[in-house]
Parts: sequence; structure tokens; C-alpha cells
Amino acid sequence: MGLETVSLGTTGTKVSEIAFGTWRFGRENDEGTVEIGEDRAHELLDAYAEAGGNFIDTADMYGGGESEKYIGNWLAERDREDFVIASKIYWPTRTDDPNGRGLSRKHLRRQMDLILDRLGTDYVDLLYIHRWDDDTPADEFMRTLDGFVRDGKVNYLGTSTLDPNAWKVVKANEMEYEPFRLAQPRYNLVNREIEPNYIPMCDDYDIGIIPWSPLGGGFLTGKYSRNEEPADGTRGATDQQFRDSYLTEENFDVLEVVEDVADELGTTPAKVSLAWLLKHDAVTAPIIGARTVEQLAENLAATEVSLSDDQFERLTNAKSA
Ligand SMILES: NC(=O)c1ccc[n+]([C@@H]2O[C@H](COP(=O)([O-])OP(=O)(O)OC[C@H]3O[C@@H](n4cnc5c(N)ncnc54)[C@H](OP(=O)(O)O)[C@@H]3O)[C@@H](O)[C@H]2O)c1
Repeated sequence: MGLETVSLGTTGTKVSEIAFGTWRFGRENDEGTVEIGEDRAHELLDAYAEAGGNFIDTADMYGGGESEKYIGNWLAERDREDFVIASKIYWPTRTDDPNGRGLSRKHLRRQMDLILDRLGTDYVDLLYIHRWDDDTPADEFMRTLDGFVRDGKVNYLGTSTLDPNAWKVVKANEMEYEPFRLAQPRYNLVNREIEPNYIPMCDDYDIGIIPWSPLGGGFLTGKYSRNEEPADGTRGATDQQFRDSYLTEENFDVLEVVEDVADELGTTPAKVSLAWLLKHDAVTAPIIGARTVEQLAENLAATEVSLSDDQFERLTNAKSA
């Protein structure tokens, strides 16, 4: 069964119900090895496209630009029009350069050119600000982003800002420029901070939500246990920040609820966790990450899982925002 198509927020563009994230393409982990090299990246993109996926998420700084290059090389053999490509700008791209970061006109314009060059395309479907830049006036970056849309380099704007900045998104969307039509916050069964403010803001401003880390970086697959060291090769083994933020007693309590529901349905915690987002009214399309083709196949099969209303409620109530 292939992926279904949904509207990209309230825009006219259609995307597959699950997006594919390429953050780990070309990325060196704490041990200095590249997590996903170009051959594996192309296998993953092939498998995603074969399943009916068309919505690819990248950023200018993923793998220091390698992610976009891998995607560009892959797209060169295909019809670019078959895909909806999203990228992002904000994080530092040039060390020792005070202008090598953020949302200044200078950095935005340089990065926009580099993004199109690496992807080998004339436009991206969606460009996010990766974070809010308090050092640049909102009028400067909104006007510059608006120019990208007018010039045809970008179709839609998105914001990948964090929950406390919801009011800033409102401020930007009240300006006389192209508004943010999509938001990419972190959202999954253990990271619920967007529920009180960010989701209502998006609802009120017709902003579609594209959650990142829908599996909590792999935590919600059930591959980690309370009292055991993470297995070699996992994000838990190679990423201290991941261990600190995810491997907590409170999160393991949530995981028990996920595992109960998975047992009831004869399926896996990963599929249940994604099925919860797929059933969620506020969500447009979660962005899954996968390091292997097997992981990708499991995650895409989440579309076959149907949660009852009771199971959805129990999962929702396993943790509060
Ligand atoms: N806007 C932002 O600031 C932001 C931030 C983060 C991510 N993102 C986007 O969101 C995408 C997804 O983020 P994410 O990678 O954190 O997503 P995720 O789906 O929560 O985690 C993906 C990781 O979990 C593990 N995993 C996935 N499926 C599995 C399975 N079926 N069985 C066992 N392990 C599995 C793999 O890690 P291991 O096998 O290595 O353990 C995989 O790399 C990124 O690629 C990026 O496009 C955006």
C-alpha cells in the first residue's frame, strides 16, 4: 500500500502523508564517522520514492551541505517536478565569519543561491527559517524571504522555530509580506511542548504543522531500555545530547503505554507512535528519519496501523505538555 497524498497545510500543493528527513546524510557523528554516506542516502531516497513518497526535507547545514548535494545528484536522474523539496536557513555555515549565520539579507541570499546550486534546481517548494534570529530585524528577513517567493526561487515559506517564539511568528505573519504557511516544530509522544500555544497559533493562522523527530530520534521505537546501555551504532550510543534529553524515567513511562498499545494491535512501538501523529488533526505530515532501508520500511508501514479513539486518547494522555 503506497503513501496517500495530503494538502501541504492550506496551500494548493500536495505532499505524501509522511515526509522523509535527510538530517543525517553526510553528517559526522561524535565518533567522526559519516552516519549516512551518498550510496546509502540514494538507497533510502529510492525506497521512499518507490513507496509513493514525494516530500523531502533538508537544510543548508545538514552534513555541511552534503545532504543537499546527495539529493541534487539523486534528483538529476529523475523528474524534479515529481518531488516537493524543503530546505532551511539559519544555523552557522561559515566558521569565523560573523555573517556566516542567521537571517540577515546577506546570509539568506548567499545560502539561497547555494541551496539551489547544490540541489540542482531553480526553486525549492518550501523554505523554512531554521530558527528565529533576534539579531536581524524581522522586517529585513521577511522582506528578503518575500523577494525569494516573488522571484520564483521559493514557493512557500515555513518557520522551524521553537514554542516560546510563537508570538514572533504571529508578528511576522501580520506584516505585509508572504506569510509563513508551514511550521516545523519538534513533536512526538514524549515532546509535547507545542500543545498549549504553538498548535493553537498554527490553527488560527492556517499554518500546517510538519513535526520533526516524530520517533523522538528513535526512542519511541522501543530500542532503548531503562537500565541498559544503548546498542552500538544507535543514536543513543553516538550522541550524548540525545541520551541526556531522551533516556529519562518520564519518557520510559510514556514508552510503556506505547508498547501496551503496540501489543494490542500486534504491531511495533514505532508504527504506533507514527500512527498517533498521522491521526492527529493538527498534523500535516511527520518527517521521519531512518538510517537503514529496513527502518524506513517499518516507519512507512505506520500508515497501515489504525488506532481506535480509545488508544489515541491513552497515548495522548500518557504525557502532558
Ligand atoms: N527543524 C529542525 O530543527 C529539525 C531538527 C531535527 C530534525 N529535523 C528533521 O526531521 C527529520 C527526522 O528527525 P529525526 O531523525 O530525529 O527523526 P526520528 O524519526 O524521530 O528518528 C530517526 C532515528 O531513529 C532511529 N530509527 C528510525 N526508525 C527506526 C526503526 N524503525 N527502528 C529502529 N530505529 C529507528 C534511527 O536512528 P539510529 O538507528 O541511529 O538509532 C533514525 O535515524 C530530520 O531528518 C530532519 O529532516 C528538523
